[in-house]
Amino acid sequence: MNPYRLVLKISQDEIQKRIHALATQIRNDYRGKDLLLVGVLKGAFIFLADLVRSLDLPVEVDFIRIASYGASTASSGGITLSKDLECTIDGRDVLVVEDIVDTGVTMQWLMAHLECRHPQSVKICALIDKYERRTVQVPVHYIGFRIPSGFVVGYGLDFAEKYRGLQGIYEVVFDTVEGSHAGQL
Ligand code: IMP
Repeated sequence: MNPYRLVLKISQDEIQKRIHALATQIRNDYRGKDLLLVGVLKGAFIFLADLVRSLDLPVEVDFIRIASYGASTASSGGITLSKDLECTIDGRDVLVVEDIVDTGVTMQWLMAHLECRHPQSVKICALIDKYERRTVQVPVHYIGFRIPSGFVVGYGLDFAEKYRGLQGIYEVVFDTVEGSHAGQL
C-alpha cells in the first residue's frame, strides 16, 4: 500500500478556465509578434498542449529538457540539459512554458542559458508558482495557479514518473512515519 494519499487541489474544470484566461492575456501581449513557445519537458507537455490550442495565434513550438529531480520529491539543485532547442531564438520573442517554479533554480538557469542566444525577449509562463519555496529570484510573467508549497502531481506532473495522466492536480499527502520526509516538500 502507498504511504501517501492523493488529494485533489485543482480540478480539470478550474485548470481549463485558468488556461483560457492565460491564453487571452498572452494573445493580447504577443499579437503580431514572432512568438516561440518553449515547452520544458517532461512536466509541461500537457499544459503546453492545452495552452497552444487556446492561444489562437500563429506560434511555433519547440522543447527543451532539463533534468534536475530524479525520483525524489525534493530538488537536488543539480541541473543538466538533456535536450536542447532545435530552432534558433536570435531576435525572437520566446515564452518558456514550465510546469512548476519551485525554488526557482531551474528557471534562473534556463533564463541565463536562453538569454545568451540573443532573443528579442524571454518570459516565463508557469502552470504553478510555489512561491513559499523560492530560494532565488526569477520573474514569472504568467502564472496559472499560486500554491505556497506541497508536492503536486497530475496534468503532466509526476512523482517518480507516475500520475502524469491524471486530469486534475493532486497534492501528495504522506500519512505515515515512513513518509515523514513530506515535511521537506
Ligand atoms: P526548481 O528548480 O526548484 O524551481 O524546480 C522546478 C522543477 O522541479 C519543476 O520543473 C518540476 O519538474 C519539479 N517540481 C517541483 N515541484 C514539483 C511538484 O510539486 N511536483 C512535481 N514536480 C515538481
